[in-house]
Amino acid sequence: MSQLDDNLMEKIVSLCKRRGFVFQGSEIYGGLAGTYDWGHFGLALKNNLKQSWWKKFVDNRRDMYGLDAAILMNAKIWEASGHVAGFSDPTEDGKQFNVMFKTSIGAGEEAAISYLRPETAQGIFVNFKNTIDAFHPKLPFGIAQIGKAFRNEIAPRDFLFRQREFEQMEVEYFVKSTDWEKYFEYWRDEMLSWMEEVGLNMGKIHETEISDQDRAHYSKRTIDFEFDFPFGKKELFGLAYRTDFDLKNHKLEYIDEDPPAGGGEKIVPHVIEPSLGVDRAVLALLLSAYTEDEKNGEVRTFLKLKPGMAPVICAVSPLLKNKPQLVEYANAKVFALLKEEFGRVAWDDNGNIGKRYRRQDEIGTPFCIVVDFDTLEDDTVTVRDRDSGAQERVKVTDLKKYIKERI
Ligand code: GAP
Repeated sequence: MSQLDDNLMEKIVSLCKRRGFVFQGSEIYGGLAGTYDWGHFGLALKNNLKQSWWKKFVDNRRDMYGLDAAILMNAKIWEASGHVAGFSDPTEDGKQFNVMFKTSIGAGEEAAISYLRPETAQGIFVNFKNTIDAFHPKLPFGIAQIGKAFRNEIAPRDFLFRQREFEQMEVEYFVKSTDWEKYFEYWRDEMLSWMEEVGLNMGKIHETEISDQDRAHYSKRTIDFEFDFPFGKKELFGLAYRTDFDLKNHKLEYIDEDPPAGGGEKIVPHVIEPSLGVDRAVLALLLSAYTEDEKNGEVRTFLKLKPGMAPVICAVSPLLKNKPQLVEYANAKVFALLKEEFGRVAWDDNGNIGKRYRRQDEIGTPFCIVVDFDTLEDDTVTVRDRDSGAQERVKVTDLKKYIKERI
């Protein structure tokens, strides 16, 4: 491990707090293990990741249906899915501990036991019939969902890696039983292509075939996509062949309108499940983007995020915040223009220019735009590039085009 890796996690955690990405949950009361609160910039990064997933796997496809199911579901669902009986981890002394969060619904003796969902997948399975009745899809088709999941992890650890409350992005892709191998390979490629698109360090991604005894109770084949985290090579995402396990247990079926033999045939589709943890994706992306370089003996830290993922696309600054002409120009003629176009634009007039650059570098802002006295004369601004530190004069009227071309 390089020197950078030695305390990389500490550096990431501290950057996340300092720059308003992620805070320890319940911090002023001493914290609550395995929970984190998302600040403005972390939330922006997380939303960018989720939106790129949704765009690729829902909006850009014809065979996918979105869903946002309730987190609280009838406890019978978790009995049928096998989670009540089998979703356990061994405790330190070897006793099995079910990691589902139990809760009670309603008042007094009438109260019913339920669970906070430990995976978003079951919300999808129990809406299989609703989806068919509403949209009449032909096989193969998928249902996609992004949402919170909860697990009472015995030992939450490693920042966003193992939490008790986290988010998942899951697709349940329904296929004919004979087609599962083909679509397993297809989803493996799709997952890899999304990972590359968002800017994960592909050199740190490894595929591991999960052995029979280590697979979840519902899976006949699982590949884990592992990532070289500073605390070891660990599961980032999973791809599972869930067979017809879930639909069968929920007694759900599909009518194949044109089977080879003709007529309508009732079948239970099989399921391929690409399952991605949002929080682990954010952590792996931060680790992929974290960069240090040295200029004039000083270490500079920056997040080399793709502009599409960066919380802020560009920051606008008046060179001096006590010069009203500069502030007014920067605000009315530059900030307003770019904010309207790109949305994720920051106003930064705090401290001197060097400090502002360092702050924006740590947020991962690809471009810093400075309005100075020359601007008042010739309507040009300085645009500084995050990665190279190079500066260019650009006409205010060309700014939108300049940034668009580079993102
Ligand atoms: N529906 C399948 C399923 O839930 P899983 O491998 O248990 O499979 C899927 O979880 C993904 O959810 C993992 O690959 C990981 O990215 C994320 N995940 C699971 N447990 C987590 C935890 N405690 N904290 C953060 N992310 C977690």
